[in-house]
Amino acid sequence: MADIYIGLMSGTSADLIDCATLDLSSEEIKVLNCKNFEIPEDLKADIIQSSQSEKIEQELIDDLDFRMAEVLVNSVKEIISDSDIETKDIKAIGSHGQTIKHEPKSKTPYTLQIGDPQKISNDLNITTVGNFRHDDIGAGGEGAPLTPVFHNKVFGNDRKRKAIVNIGGITNITALNYPELIGFDTGPGNCLMDCWSRIHNVGNYDDKGSWASSGTINPFLLEAMMGDEYFLRKYPKSTGPDYFNHEWINKNLFKLSKEIPAEDVQATLVQVTVVSLIESINILNLSNENIYLCGGGVHNDFLCSEINKQSKARVSTTLELGIDPDYVEAICFGWLAKQRIESKSFNLGEITGSKGEVYLGRIYEPSK
Ligand SMILES: Nc1ncnc2c1ncn2[C@@H]1O[C@H](COP(=O)(O)OP(=O)(O)O)[C@@H](O)[C@H]1O
Ligand SMILES: [Mg+2]
Repeated sequence: MADIYIGLMSGTSADLIDCATLDLSSEEIKVLNCKNFEIPEDLKADIIQSSQSEKIEQELIDDLDFRMAEVLVNSVKEIISDSDIETKDIKAIGSHGQTIKHEPKSKTPYTLQIGDPQKISNDLNITTVGNFRHDDIGAGGEGAPLTPVFHNKVFGNDRKRKAIVNIGGITNITALNYPELIGFDTGPGNCLMDCWSRIHNVGNYDDKGSWASSGTINPFLLEAMMGDEYFLRKYPKSTGPDYFNHEWINKNLFKLSKEIPAEDVQATLVQVTVVSLIESINILNLSNENIYLCGGGVHNDFLCSEINKQSKARVSTTLELGIDPDYVEAICFGWLAKQRIESKSFNLGEITGSKGEVYLGRIYEPSK
């Protein structure tokens, strides 16, 4: 009998649900199938709006929690019917959920992921691990990023120093074999570019970065943006689109005395992602090592060529290390589900800043 796990991820971009089925019967991580699923447009709009508003009514949270869980349940049903696996062999689902709020440093620190794991567990009759970030925050940590422990497991065995950089809504970097494990959010990934594209009716994102490449970087705007205190803060640190959003762009535009063409703003936003990443690579002294990219940002040709141009490091994607860059996070949460089921805890002091050993995720057994 195989030990099958399913990983479900929908990141801060709220673009798609990424789903991976894994055979974790041995120490080796065998990826069986990867697929992504659409999030209905009305749900996507509600998610984006809620994640950018200061206060959300409990009623709306409950409604989103239910609707997102339904979409996640259907995604699992589809991937099962598309795969050569038997439901009885599925040990557990690791479902990250959709982040609506992430405020680990507020007076009452909290993080909120919707997509009720109990409903997923009940509807599918499969044990589900969810709320991966709660107990890390409870132990005084940032609750993010969590992927470094997985990056270390799959990419760190050769003992070579290297960096894994996930460019999702937010960018996070993992330094492997430093020798210690280090990971933090460097700043925005695609979230500001996506936001500006939506406002200017370019689409949900700037395909391949072609709109940005038609603009000219505005050095004054870039300077204003790069002066943000987040970039100056030392790691461990984490952030989200509740910070890097439309309001953040407007606040910086307001500091300038002249109007700037929209495509120039977009070109400048690309640089904010690139420069904050390169600065982090330099702070970590990784500029002579290999950098492996993953996340949706790898499809933004303009962004990737700018990273290549401005970095001395050799830049490629995790495909070179054998894992599809679009599914690293989904695979991670399937693997983390197994760690939780087997009661493995982690010390994330250098990554999230939490104290002591922490269990990542809470287990939801089917209640029927
Ligand atoms: N063809 C493309 N051109 C430019 N950007 C893209 C393309 N495909 C995906 N992306 C970017 O990747 C983002 C999704 O990346 P993802 O890693 O899924 O982020 P998250 O983890 O936040 O969901 C999209 O919102 C978009 O900005
Ligand atoms: Mg995504």
